[in-house]
Amino acid sequence: MRILIIIAAILIAAPLLGLGGVYFVSEAKLRDVTYDPAFEAPIPTDAASIEHGRHIARTRGCFGCHGQQLQGKDFDEQWDWPERAVAPNLALYAREHDVATLEAAIRQGIGANGKGLVSMPSYNFARLTDEDLAALIAFLRSAPVVEIDLPKPKLGWIARWSFATGEETHYEEWADHVPALRVDPEAEPQRALGEYLAMTMCNECHGLDLRGATLWDAVTPDLIIVSAYSRDEFEKLITTGVAMSGRELGLMRLVAPDRFPELSKEEIDALYLHLTALADEPVPEGVFWRP
Ligand code: HEC
Ligand code: HEC
Repeated sequence: MRILIIIAAILIAAPLLGLGGVYFVSEAKLRDVTYDPAFEAPIPTDAASIEHGRHIARTRGCFGCHGQQLQGKDFDEQWDWPERAVAPNLALYAREHDVATLEAAIRQGIGANGKGLVSMPSYNFARLTDEDLAALIAFLRSAPVVEIDLPKPKLGWIARWSFATGEETHYEEWADHVPALRVDPEAEPQRALGEYLAMTMCNECHGLDLRGATLWDAVTPDLIIVSAYSRDEFEKLITTGVAMSGRELGLMRLVAPDRFPELSKEEIDALYLHLTALADEPVPEGVFWRP
């Protein structure tokens, strides 16, 4: 009789211990982050810097994911990951948190709760300059606060399991894998601008070094594909999401018209220069997140 009770107890306890284990290991992994030195740059208050910050927010997709009024967004209908992703109200967040916390979230992929972020693509912003980041923060703090009811985000068991097993890693780790910018701005200023723009706008989806990646069920091409485009066809593609010869694209068709129409001619020239120059360079090996 006693043995049956022990067996029953084990049968009940084992799954609970298992869940507890997944919970604790995933929590430990999410909290395993290393902070860079705290960001202390002064935040500008002049109108030109705030307008520049708005341009950064627009071209880096903050509006698309956080709402066109920065009011926040529930991704429950769009994404299963990490069960329920909820992008917070950015105008409010920017006022409630200090500059170092904002920088850690935006560039380093660490949330205000000290855990690695899991659906905010901070790796795309890891190389933003201090100046652009300060302007971005200035803009977020100046934007009117529009409050809506947002549900609580949820980290589901499937997501916890993939963090616990190491199948997935949080974005603080991804941000660490973003390659350094290579083009020397003294020697090639226009190409350096193009590299900077691409590495803070396109590597969200096209791979940390722009040379292609897998994205959920889609595969994004190596951006040397831009060499097949003329300068005008390229401008049309990134401002409308319509490919050469009018071919309809998927995700690119959604993000391009939201983010890139306000790029200046100079920015588009610089992007085109850098991306076409990539065709002469071998694909680096062993880059994190390459398919
Ligand atoms: C692909 C969608 C996406 C884009 C693009 C995006 N965010 Fe987010 N962001 C999210 C989600 C989702 C969260 C919620 C946290 C999480 O699940 O990782 C978030 C969280 C945040 C947080 C709070 C982090 C915390 O929990 O403390 C800040 C700050 C933030 N984003 C700023 C920005 C800024 C600034 C931009 C533009 C430069 C931006 N985001 C672009 C989706 C996005
Ligand atoms: C949010 C994800 C996302 C971002 C950001 C993004 N792309 Fe794309 N892009 C895609 C996907 C996905 C495809 C594959 C086609 C499709 O499904 O839309 C694609 C396709 C392309 C193509 C190939 C078009 C063809 O002829 O097949 C080019 C060129 C391109 N993107 C350039 C860029 C450039 C340049 C940037 C940055 C300025 C950029 N993309 C930013 C997701 C993205």
